[in-house]
Amino acid sequence: MSSIEVIGGERLKGELKIQGSKNAALPVIAAAILNKGITVLKNCPRILDVYHMINVLEELGGSAKWEKDVLVIDTAGINSSSVSEESVRKMRSSILFLGALLGRFKEVTIAYPGGCSIGKRPIDYHLASLKRMNVLQEFLGPNESIIHCHTDKIIGNDIFLEFPSVGATQNVILSAVLSEGTTRIFNAAREPEVWELCNYLAEAGARICGKGTAFIEVEGVKKLHDVEYTLPSDRIVAGTYMAAIAATNGNAVLLDTPVRQIETVIRTMQKSGCKIEESDNALKISCTERLLPVKLLCTRPYPGFPTDMQSQMMTMLCLADGRSTIVEEIFESRFQNVEELRRMGAIINLDESGRRAEVDGVKSLSAATVTAHDLRGGAALVIAGLSATGKTVIRDATCIDRGYEDICRDMSMLGARIRYCSENVL
Ligand code: EPZ
Repeated sequence: MSSIEVIGGERLKGELKIQGSKNAALPVIAAAILNKGITVLKNCPRILDVYHMINVLEELGGSAKWEKDVLVIDTAGINSSSVSEESVRKMRSSILFLGALLGRFKEVTIAYPGGCSIGKRPIDYHLASLKRMNVLQEFLGPNESIIHCHTDKIIGNDIFLEFPSVGATQNVILSAVLSEGTTRIFNAAREPEVWELCNYLAEAGARICGKGTAFIEVEGVKKLHDVEYTLPSDRIVAGTYMAAIAATNGNAVLLDTPVRQIETVIRTMQKSGCKIEESDNALKISCTERLLPVKLLCTRPYPGFPTDMQSQMMTMLCLADGRSTIVEEIFESRFQNVEELRRMGAIINLDESGRRAEVDGVKSLSAATVTAHDLRGGAALVIAGLSATGKTVIRDATCIDRGYEDICRDMSMLGARIRYCSENVL
């Protein structure tokens, strides 16, 4: 397991290009299975989760090869619809293969994805929706941890999601594209990554309307065709780096920032005293004064404040001049960083629900050795280390590479003193 070592105290400055979007890439890679042929994916991020999706594609008989940041996927050779337990355990987003394999083969066998450090992450909305689409489901294996879904034909239906789940919306869309009839999703997730999936599928010949809205309608078609698609930049990576610049009182430009997709993040940072200027796809952020607290910040489904930016915002607000309150409405245990930030001198109080944090800002955090518990929490600890003078070590940092191509490369581009190191040299 690798660690990251940061010698903090440098104000970040300069210019940096934002990588392609992890959460847009993963569902599109799964969706490529619906077209028995070629998908050319441009601006695809070279991150662990993408490498993992490629491994599953190859396990199924498909292939994928890189040409710089272009991923050329060929699914013609796919001859299996079983995703191994080990694959799903390694990355729960493998559950997106459920809808794609079902859509193509009308059958899929896949392990129940476990929870992760941020929550139990059940898939009841996914399964309940598929059942309404004429999909039979059996639970196999010693503790019924293997799901076997099959049907002679997927029949479009009305699907009401009790919560606008991103994954459930995506799996219903993936199952509906080659189905018979029309599927209407009510209370669909509106995240940009759902919009991107619909956009990719429409360019491949699917008939979808309502992308990006809470009402999506999919009319089944017979087949899809090859497509070349360019992924957007990663809105959460952009937000993460904005928080790093703000926490170090820096001044920098982020190129290829999907500005329209992070409106609430921009507004929240402006409330906290950051100066932000936007151009068509670049964003300039500077924060020369001490950060201001944010009275109440609640994470919400899109277009609300994204839960994937909560940990990074918490780190920033640990340095604000006053008390901020953060409420995590989406995941039941996404405050894993609190203990680690306290180790660095942060003053954070949690209520008994464990979903409401009161953060009393301090003038500066102290360098320490801390542990990353999840992808975004790990990135938030890098931000904490960048702001604290002295050497901070973030252990178990590999989880950060699941979503960030190279956070050390990127932060060094802005003047940070940061490097990866393996555990045993520390
Ligand atoms: C996607 O996860 C993202 N992952 C997550 O990003 C993101 O945090 C999340 O959406 C919310 O925006 C990818 O896109 C690969 P959900 P997903 O289904 O689809 C509950 C990151 O850091 N729920 O919208 O799993 C669930 O437990 C990751 O990049 C059910 O109860 O999120 C959670 O509390 C982390 N039953 C809430 O809904 C279900 O059947 C939101 O989950 C499905 C979900």
